Amino acid sequence: MSELASARLLENDRRPTQASSSRVEPGHPGPALNKLVLLHTERVTSVRPWNDRVFTFCTTRDPGLRFRSGQFLMLGLPVEGKPLMRAYSVVSANYEERLEFLCIEVPNGPLSPRLHRLQPGDEVLVNRKPAGTLVADDLLPGRRLYLFATGTGLAPFLSIVKDPEVYERFERVVLVHCVRHLPDLAYQQYLSQELPRDEFLGEVAREKLIYYPTVTREPFRHEGRITSLVESGKLCGDLGLPPLDAAEDRVMLCGSEAMLADLRAVLDRRGFRVNAQAGEPGQYVVEKAFAEK
Ligand code: A2P
Repeated sequence: MSELASARLLENDRRPTQASSSRVEPGHPGPALNKLVLLHTERVTSVRPWNDRVFTFCTTRDPGLRFRSGQFLMLGLPVEGKPLMRAYSVVSANYEERLEFLCIEVPNGPLSPRLHRLQPGDEVLVNRKPAGTLVADDLLPGRRLYLFATGTGLAPFLSIVKDPEVYERFERVVLVHCVRHLPDLAYQQYLSQELPRDEFLGEVAREKLIYYPTVTREPFRHEGRITSLVESGKLCGDLGLPPLDAAEDRVMLCGSEAMLADLRAVLDRRGFRVNAQAGEPGQYVVEKAFAEK
């Protein structure tokens, strides 16, 4: 089926639209049509700063929008009459009513400074076609799942740790978030206190989820880059888990290109195989944390 046909199907399949979430009418035919048919206007419902550059915001969600935990959506704003869109991993779980995004302002970037100025009630554009490689289906069965994030690479893992299916597949889920400074530890309170007390997920999260925040440029209870923590054996030692082992452990990576390259090398040396492409499961999967170029 062509992309246009599937876009039309999606439109036909759409449940009644909420007043707060509306389709952008295609302005003109041609190649841009496919993209426009998939664009929706959503309304910002809340914003939350974590520090002077990192922030979270929530929006309404079109009821027809479906995504898998760990995927990203193209998100943007109309700029000079055209949609300016960038990829953002979805923080919210796939069953939640709102969409939630974690962003960092890239100084002089075309989009992120504008997103940083958003206020409740403002409109954003959301493309309804999710994509991304951080999906549990592309991992072979294993005992423990390690989620390694730096900076805003945490975003897709928040969706994943709120997905009950991940706890069905793995005995242990270890979320490691590495940042430069303490205020960069977005969602620290949520992960350490609120999720373990959540009405629906609390019990399984208390039993299976381990949250391990680590800081590299100031004193903290856990310090150091993920690469060093894995190579030295400190991470697994601190957690009382066996050393990372390709036979039993599965890994998802999300961070800067440099972090991904270094951590991939660490995993490759330990005999881990990356998933080659969608539908060909591996022992680990990788996604770049999106930052504006
Ligand atoms: P460091 O403070 O030692 O540079 P950034 O904000 O640059 O994306 O970094 C987020 C976190 O990722 C920081 O704690 C940083 O550590 C760490 N980091 C940066 N580059 C790498 C890398 N190549 N491998 C592992 N961790 C990295």
